[in-house]
Amino acid sequence: MNEGRRTKDERRILSGMRPTGKLHLGHLVGALNNWVKLQDTHQCFYMVADWHALMSEYEDPKELRENIHEMVRDFIAVGLDPEKSVIFIQSHVPEHLELAMVFGDITPLAWLERCPTYKEQLREIKGRELATFGFLGYPVLQAADIAIYKADAVPVGVDQLPHLELTREIVRRFNALYKKNLFPEPEPILTKTSKLLGIDNRKMSKSYGNYIAISDPPNTIAKKVYKMVTDPKRIHVTDKGHPNVCTVHSYFAAFAESKVIEEVRVGCEKGIIGCTECKKRLAKILTEYLEPISMRRKAVSDSMVEQILARGARKARDVASETVLEVKQLINLTV
Ligand code: TRP
Ligand code: SF4
Repeated sequence: MNEGRRTKDERRILSGMRPTGKLHLGHLVGALNNWVKLQDTHQCFYMVADWHALMSEYEDPKELRENIHEMVRDFIAVGLDPEKSVIFIQSHVPEHLELAMVFGDITPLAWLERCPTYKEQLREIKGRELATFGFLGYPVLQAADIAIYKADAVPVGVDQLPHLELTREIVRRFNALYKKNLFPEPEPILTKTSKLLGIDNRKMSKSYGNYIAISDPPNTIAKKVYKMVTDPKRIHVTDKGHPNVCTVHSYFAAFAESKVIEEVRVGCEKGIIGCTECKKRLAKILTEYLEPISMRRKAVSDSMVEQILARGARKARDVASETVLEVKQLINLTV
C-alpha cells in the first residue's frame, strides 16, 4: 500500500536506539551495520531516543548525558554519515511530543496494556517503578517518532516488532478517523544475522555485563574473549569439539571470513585446534574489525558532535513541524 507513494530513493526510514549504555557488538551486527547500508538506498533518519531512555532511567538519570554523546560518537564511528542521513536527538525535536499527544488521545488503553514488551518489562525489571503513565505510553511515543517523518520502513530487531505493529494500528486509526491517508503504515526491515549472544552465552545485555563494547580497547577485548564460554564437553585439545554450541565459534561466524570460519570449525571438530589458540585468533579478528571504528571514534571531537546534532535537529524539525501542521489542521486545532 505504501509502495508507489515514493520512489526507491525517496523511501524513508527512521530508527532509534535508547542511550542506556555503551553500544556493543550485538548492536553492530543486529542493527548498526544494516543502518549504514541503508544510507545508500533510502533517506534515513537516525535518532538517539533519549525520552525513551528516561522512561526507565528517570530515578537515576545521571549517566544519561554522557550516554547520549557517546552514542552519537559510536554512530559516526561505525559509519553513519551526517552528509547522507539525518542524525539527531529525539528531545531536540519537540514535535515528537506533540504528535505523541494526539496519538495518545486515539490509542485505546487496552492496546497498550496487552503489549508483550510492556508486560515483559514489568515482570523482568525488578527494583524499579515502571508501572508509570510514561512507560505504558512507550509505544505511543515510538509511533510518533516514526510517523512524524512519514517513514515507510523501520529497521529493527525482532524484539521491536510488537511496537511496530502498534504503530501500524495507531496510524491506521488516525487515517481512518480523520479520513486522510496522511501516514504510511511502516514496514519492518529485519536484519538477517541471528542475535549475537554475550560472552557467557546469555542474551547480550548491559545488565549482565557480558558484552564487548564497540569502544573497548584491544586488551579489554582479549580479556573478554578469554572469558568466553566454550564447548563444556571439551577438556583436552584432542577432545573432539562441538563448535555449534560454542560462543567463541558464534563470534567467528559473525565476524570472520568464511574460509577462516570453516578452518576453525574443522580444527575444533577434529580436535586439532585448542580453545586458547582459537580464542587468540578471535581476539585478533575482533580487534582488527574494531580498529578502524576506534580510529574514527577518536577523530570525532566534542564540537563535531555538537555540530552534527545541531544540523540534524534542524533538518529533522523541518520535516516534523510540517507534519504537525498537517495534523493540527486535520483535527481543527488552531495554528
Ligand atoms: N524502542 C526502541 C528500542 O528500544 C528505540 C526506539 C524509540 C525506536 N523510538 C523508535 C526504534 C522508533 C525504531 C523506531 O530499541
Ligand atoms: Fe569453541 Fe574454538 Fe574451543 Fe572449539 S576450539 S570449543 S570453537 S573455543
